[in-house]
Amino acid sequence: MAHQWRGVLREYADRLDISEATPIVTLGEGGTPLIPADALSRRTGARVWVKFEGMNPTGSFKDRGMTMAVSKAVEHGAKAIICASTGNTSASAAAYATHAGITAAVLVPEGKIAMGKLAQAIAHGAELLQVQGNFDDCLDIARDLAANYPVHLVNSVNNDRIEGQKTAAFEVVEVLEDAPDFHFIPVGNAGNYTAYHRGYNEELERGITTKMPRMFGFQAAGSAPIVVGHVVKDPDTIASAIRIGNPASWELAIAAREHSNGYFGAISDEKILEAHRILSSEVGVFVEPASAISVAGLLERAEAGEIPKGATVVLTVTGHGLKDPQWALRAADGSDVKPTVVSTDIGEIAGVLGLGTAVEA
Ligand code: F0G
Repeated sequence: MAHQWRGVLREYADRLDISEATPIVTLGEGGTPLIPADALSRRTGARVWVKFEGMNPTGSFKDRGMTMAVSKAVEHGAKAIICASTGNTSASAAAYATHAGITAAVLVPEGKIAMGKLAQAIAHGAELLQVQGNFDDCLDIARDLAANYPVHLVNSVNNDRIEGQKTAAFEVVEVLEDAPDFHFIPVGNAGNYTAYHRGYNEELERGITTKMPRMFGFQAAGSAPIVVGHVVKDPDTIASAIRIGNPASWELAIAAREHSNGYFGAISDEKILEAHRILSSEVGVFVEPASAISVAGLLERAEAGEIPKGATVVLTVTGHGLKDPQWALRAADGSDVKPTVVSTDIGEIAGVLGLGTAVEA
C-alpha cells in the first residue's frame, strides 16, 4: 500500500509531548514540499529553497500547531476552543475543532480578513464574530475569555501551537540533511519565527545538524513593531495576515534572534507585491501577500550584500494564494489585469497566442 503521511503528531511522536492518552486530531498536516527555487537562486547567488506551507490541509502553516493544540485541548476535556485571528488561525481552528467534534469560537477584525479565510471558518461551522477593532484587540478579548470562561485558548500564546509548528524545521533538516545557513520567514505574532528557531535548536542539540540557521524575520513596513521597537497602534498593510501591532511572542522572538545571530526587517507593501509576482510567475508557487514577504526580504538582504554566494537559504511561505487571490489580478502598475477574450475560431486563437501557421499533420 502506498505510504500516507500521518500528520505531524504521529510522524514526530517521539519529539512532542504526547502520550497514549492523547487523542490525535489530525487532517494530515505537515510533510509539505521544500521546493528548489532556481529563479531566486539566479537572482541572489544563494541556493534558495521554498518551504510551501500553503500545502497544508487548510492552506497554511497554522495546521501544524492546531493539530497539537486541539489534540491537547481534547485530552484535557475541552468542549470549546477560542482564538483571535487575522484569518488563517480561525480557518485552521474551525477545521480541527469540527473534526474533533468540539466547538470553535473565532474573533476576527471586522472587514480585515481575506475572503477565502472567512469562508473557511464559516464552512467549518465556527462561531465567527467580527470584532470592531484590530487583531490586537481580538487577542486581548480571547485571552480574557479563556481566563474567565470554560473555553480553551488556541492562539500561539498556547505553547502547544509552537510545539506543533517546530516540526517544519525538522522537515527542512530531513531534506537538506543539515540546517540551512539562513531561514527567512514572515512575522506577525512571531510565533512561527519562535517555532522554527526551537525546531532547529533541538536538531542541533540532538547532534543531527552542524549549525543554527540565522533567523531572518520580516514585518510589513506599516506594521513592524519589532523593527521599530514599540507597539504600533494602528497597524496597516495589504498583507492582512500580519497586520499586527503588538506581537504575542515578541520577547521569545528577540531571544531567538540573538541566539541565532538573526535579523528583523521591514518591507513596503509595494515590495511585498513585487515579490508575490516574482514567486508566482518565476517559481510557480502561489502564496498570499504575507507569505511573499519572505521572498521580498531575501531580495532586499541579497541586494544589501548580506547573503554570501552559495549560502543555503530556506524561505517559509506560510499561506496559499487561493485564500486571497485578488492580488494576482493586479498588474505591477496597479491596474486590473483583464484576460483577453476571443471567439471559438481556432485561427483567431492561434493568432492571438502567436503560434504562427498550422503545421501539416
Ligand atoms: N503568514 C501568514 C499567512 C499568517 O497567517 C501569519 C499569522 C503569519 C505569516 C505570521 O505568523 O503570527 O506566527 O508570526 N497569522 C495569524 C492568524 C496571526 O491569525 O492567522 P506569526
